[in-house]
Amino acid sequence: MTQTVLITGATSGLGAEFARQLAAKGANLVLVGRNAERLEHNAARLQADHGVGVETMAADLHTDAGVDEVVVRLEDSSSPVTTLINNAGYGLVEPFADSPLETELDHLKIHVTVPLTLSHTALQGMRRRGSGHIINIASVAGFTPRGTYGAVKAAMISFSRWANIQYGGEGISVTALCPGFVHTEFHQRMKVDKRSVPSWMWLNAPDVVAEGLRDAARGKGVSIPSIRYKVLAGFARFAPPSLVAAFAWRGR
Ligand SMILES: NC(=O)c1ccc[n+]([C@@H]2O[C@H](COP(=O)([O-])OP(=O)(O)OC[C@H]3O[C@@H](n4cnc5c(N)ncnc54)[C@H](OP(=O)(O)O)[C@@H]3O)[C@@H](O)[C@H]2O)c1
Repeated sequence: MTQTVLITGATSGLGAEFARQLAAKGANLVLVGRNAERLEHNAARLQADHGVGVETMAADLHTDAGVDEVVVRLEDSSSPVTTLINNAGYGLVEPFADSPLETELDHLKIHVTVPLTLSHTALQGMRRRGSGHIINIASVAGFTPRGTYGAVKAAMISFSRWANIQYGGEGISVTALCPGFVHTEFHQRMKVDKRSVPSWMWLNAPDVVAEGLRDAARGKGVSIPSIRYKVLAGFARFAPPSLVAAFAWRGR
């Protein structure tokens, strides 16, 4: 069966890289993001380079209308989505109590409510077909005390770990991909000076995506790209929370 992959947040960064690597493997794509012009540009390039089918969907996932549009596409059994990649997201600059509540609730929605809504919808068709992959882009921040960003990513790690066990027997994998710092537009959008993070902590999007896709294909529930971040995630499990929190605060 032809693979069709729906990627949220496909205008830049990890989402755009997933689109490139999957198109190179011959998958058809559904690209979701707010910026219609950038989506069209990416789609035209992928079609020209790899000859795959690419649909674009300009949708703001903060809005119910935007989420509904994606849900309708996932329900379309005439062209089933075989892999769902919940990737759209961003970081907040202010700590919780200094952020407007509405901003915090939008952040919760895009990182947890939307991925759960899309996963619930996608799972209906995947279970009928007895196959499918869901990749939730979490973060190593989910293993650390790091504000509401760490909290939402921890929720998706926990959910993915469970769902991978629950639905693995039905031929469906659910993987939380947990990168460390990656060169994308993430920090620029937060207006964070990337020089505050030592160079050895930076990963490149092509390596993160390649490792994530490999781990998802192997049916892993949690994927932590690179040896250095596997070690740091282990450290976060056993070190005192105040020490881990001080370390994790870098890069904001
Ligand atoms: N970069 C890192 O260091 C890092 C580390 C760990 C985890 N992550 C996670 O990786 C994921 C991808 O981030 P990235 O690093 O690739 O950053 P990025 O280059 O800034 O990409 C973020 C993507 O999310 C989309 N997006 C943001 N708000 C949206 C909304 N309301 N509706 C629809 N789409 C929206 C953006 O598209 P539009 O602007 O077109 O809407 C963009 O395509 C995020 O979940 C992030 O938390 C990043």
